[in-house]
Amino acid sequence: KAWYPGHVQKAKRQIRENLKKIDIVVIVLDARAPVATTSFEMKIFKDKQRVFLLNKTDLADSEYNKKWACEIAKLYPTLLVNKDTNRKELLTFLKSIPTKYANPRIAVVGVPNVGKSTIINKILGRHKAKTGAQPGITRGVQWVNVEGFTVLDSPGILFSEIFSKDIAAKLLLIGSLPIENVDDEIFDYAFKIYASAAGVQKDIVQFLEEYGRSRGLLKKGGQVDYEKAKTLFFKEVSEGKHGRLTYDTEFEKFWEVLKNG
Ligand code: GTP
Repeated sequence: KAWYPGHVQKAKRQIRENLKKIDIVVIVLDARAPVATTSFEMKIFKDKQRVFLLNKTDLADSEYNKKWACEIAKLYPTLLVNKDTNRKELLTFLKSIPTKYANPRIAVVGVPNVGKSTIINKILGRHKAKTGAQPGITRGVQWVNVEGFTVLDSPGILFSEIFSKDIAAKLLLIGSLPIENVDDEIFDYAFKIYASAAGVQKDIVQFLEEYGRSRGLLKKGGQVDYEKAKTLFFKEVSEGKHGRLTYDTEFEKFWEVLKNG
């Protein structure tokens, strides 16, 4: 798609090259949007043992977290995690994955900003975070031996293939789409999804008017600077500053997207 940053093709090539050597694919989803974050070309992993980490559970609705974990666990090893999950729990989960390999090679993959680097750092027991808040900035390839695994020390960045307005809007809400690449139609749609999940009654114009004013985001004449208000608001939403919200709530859609991807 036109909004893809320049290094996307390179990232895709890297994944394909490394894929041949991988035994277990750890797919990181954002617990707020398990469907939208599964909307990538899943068939490249069809011969691999796949497991799911539902990450950023601290930003999602706790009841939905449990429901999603139960649902996905019907077919795949699944673990609810967040940045405070301890390393031991993560390693115990990895060790529980059925595999025929003595020293399985593991790759951590997912769409931008779901927390891949944070998880790799944790698996490797690396405290100094090598993460970036900008979607899609992680690079470099290296294998590291740790606790009976060989881990690819480079997140596999995946990009949505089944692209729809709904998916784009949810990726925006979780910070997986760079704001500058989003048009007003998607902003409006994303706001509706947010408002519905958060129980907000206002429309985007009313809301940004009040929000912009309360934050002092004003133009010279005293009118609200909508561009600034919009940018700040969606950034805050993606960081969980407007509540713990789960945007994807339909389980059947997950399986549909997984099958079609
Ligand atoms: P890309 O390099 O863009 O593909 O990102 P990534 O998937 O490697 O994500 P990364 O680990 O860089 O995390 C993205 C942002 O989310 C960082 O600001 C992290 O601190 C934050 N983050 C990661 N995991 C969690 C979590 O469980 N909860 C919260 N609240 N924030 C998290």
